[in-house]
Amino acid sequence: MFFQKLALLLTCIIVPSNAQKTPPELCATGVHAILIRGQGPGDHLNVMVSMQNLVLQLIPGSSSVALPYHHGGPDHRVVAADGALLMQQYIRDYVASCPQSKIFLMGYSLGGIVMMDGLCGTSSLWLDPVSAIEPQYNRSVIAAAAYGEETFIPGLEWNAGTCLDGIGVYPRLHPEWCDAYAASIRDYCDEGDSSCCMKYPPFDDGAHFTYIFRYNIDLLHFVQRRLVETPLP
Ligand SMILES: *[C@@H]1O[C@H](CO)[C@@H](O)[C@H](O)[C@H]1NC(C)=O
Repeated sequence: MFFQKLALLLTCIIVPSNAQKTPPELCATGVHAILIRGQGPGDHLNVMVSMQNLVLQLIPGSSSVALPYHHGGPDHRVVAADGALLMQQYIRDYVASCPQSKIFLMGYSLGGIVMMDGLCGTSSLWLDPVSAIEPQYNRSVIAAAAYGEETFIPGLEWNAGTCLDGIGVYPRLHPEWCDAYAASIRDYCDEGDSSCCMKYPPFDDGAHFTYIFRYNIDLLHFVQRRLVETPLP
């Protein structure tokens, strides 16, 4: 009985995390989510569990993995670059195993830099440079969302949220390097978030912590719409 429960428990833990090399029977027929949390110690999923639950419950045939990058590391610039390379490897390995599956990337704050730089390449001053992933992965990556990420600049087609005239701490100088992925990107940034929507004089940073409550459902709908409008890779 104990071992049955243990086996059940292990199954529950293993199912939402089909990392990298994946046997064909576990390839997502819904979407495969790669979730990239923000800076800080502790488990890899953190508050991203809220989006994982929505995706697994409401998009049948989905799977997910939390990117195990070094989010607790002391130098966030090193961590961002390493994380971007790791995400690229996760995408390449997953597509090699599951060429017919669609991928949803999502990063929060530092994880948003990881996600955006991994796709587009780094083009911010003061961040360690990473080259963009190959553009042909735009057939597999059908959605790529960020919450409160520090390379935000106003006026881009993929911007979402209420920030209209602030700017990220590490503004992205070459957003056109993201062009292959433009249709998939959704970069949420709210007024009152001094990481992505910095202004002078500086203000309270409260909005940096409310995205999961304000936008998870909106983001879920975006992913559902992209699943319908994109062909199989
Ligand atoms: C992928 O990117 C190329 C250009 O880099 C573009 O022509 C094509 O439409 C993109 N495909 C998708 C599915 O977004």
